[in-house]
Amino acid sequence: MLGPPGVGKGTQAQQLSKEFGIPQISTGDILRDAIQKKTVLGEKANTFMSRGELVPDKVMLGIIQETLFSEHAPEGYILDGFPRTVAQAMGLQKLFEEHNDTLSAVLSLEADENQIVRRLSSRRTCQNCNALYNLLTMPPKIEGKCDVCSGELYQRNDDRIETIRNRLRVYKQQTEPLIGFYKSLGVLKSINASGLPEEVQKNIIGQLED
Ligand code: AP5
Repeated sequence: MLGPPGVGKGTQAQQLSKEFGIPQISTGDILRDAIQKKTVLGEKANTFMSRGELVPDKVMLGIIQETLFSEHAPEGYILDGFPRTVAQAMGLQKLFEEHNDTLSAVLSLEADENQIVRRLSSRRTCQNCNALYNLLTMPPKIEGKCDVCSGELYQRNDDRIETIRNRLRVYKQQTEPLIGFYKSLGVLKSINASGLPEEVQKNIIGQLED
């Protein structure tokens, strides 16, 4: 899943994971979990994430190498938030070659920047199961509680307006070049992600079946 912060990668990846019965691997969730557990990785990642900057490529490739090939996922998996730089994408290609694996599709989600800022500033996430909500478009049934597991909902530290702006700048500089990279490999699928979540999901499944 490729796309700017807040475009709906996590929302769509969670749905696709249910639809296809394959795991979602979110590098953002892995890092936030490490921060919560106060591990060495978490402390290191926190300094970058709180500023809206990317965690160094070497650290991220290490995490992916550990996670991807220790997961038992014979039917495949959905990568959400990785790769995010050309160096990460090249590292991933190398890992695929070493493990005889392939990348079947890269879903590039697109939406207008004002819509993205609105989505992010009203996002809430479950502390326990990472389910996603939005106070404007997808509110929980009970205020502050997750519909799925009754866990507490929280607002992410990097969803403050000045950090959102920096994340969008970082996306343009460091991640957007991946669109050309994956286009040249013939695996890129552009998805209009400005509609309702169900419409975006339909659009994705249609493109995957093409
Ligand atoms: P990460 O957690 O991956 O954040 P992100 O890419 O910035 O993306 P978001 O999770 O903010 O948004 P999303 O696109 O998943 O949208 P969502 O579905 O939640 O990364 C966080 C940080 O970790 C990075 O800044 C970096 O520091 C570090 N990091 C992670 N991976 C890294 C890597 N590979 N390399 C280096 N550093 C890395 O939706 C947003 C909101 O909109 C929600 O409230 C949702 O309910 C709502 N919504 C979703 N879709 C719709 C819709 N169609 N209509 C209306 N509302 C919608």
